Amino acid sequence: MSETTLVLIKPGGVKRNLIGEITRRIEQRGLNVVGLKLMRAPRELVEAHYAEHQGKGFFEDVVNYLCSGPVVAMAIQGPNAVKAIRTMMGATNPIEATPGSVRGDFALSIDDNLTHSSSDPEAAANELALWFPEGIVS
Ligand code: CDP
Ligand code: MG
Repeated sequence: MSETTLVLIKPGGVKRNLIGEITRRIEQRGLNVVGLKLMRAPRELVEAHYAEHQGKGFFEDVVNYLCSGPVVAMAIQGPNAVKAIRTMMGATNPIEATPGSVRGDFALSIDDNLTHSSSDPEAAANELALWFPEGIVS
């Protein structure tokens, strides 16, 4: 079933010039880019994005990190896009991430794990509404 999901390339990924590599992998897989922008994310947006983690020890740190530099926001569409993208990005802790995944190939630390991707279709719908209020392009 066709789904649309959100991918963020976090500030560390942008700084390390991984925009092309990550986008290439997504396109190579056969998934379609239906939204794409480079932006400095406003704090309110990032806090809403990570609302599920409010109150956890890492909440402030992850919000500060997302606001520390430009991010790329992408809407990605295709068959089972939510799960396909999560698997391609790899486990949250890069030490556990499978080689061949983005985190498994390019990251070593949980607080600089390069990408965000929606965890399930409901989260994807909420996150796409936050990051692409203008809608997607297809
Ligand atoms: O990003 P993902 O959905 O894989 O993980 P999450 O559990 O939703 O956590 C969101 C983000 O918070 C992670 O990607 C990490 O950047 C950060 N985090 C952290 O720094 N330390 C943790 N113990 C858990 C998450
Ligand atoms: Mg998550």
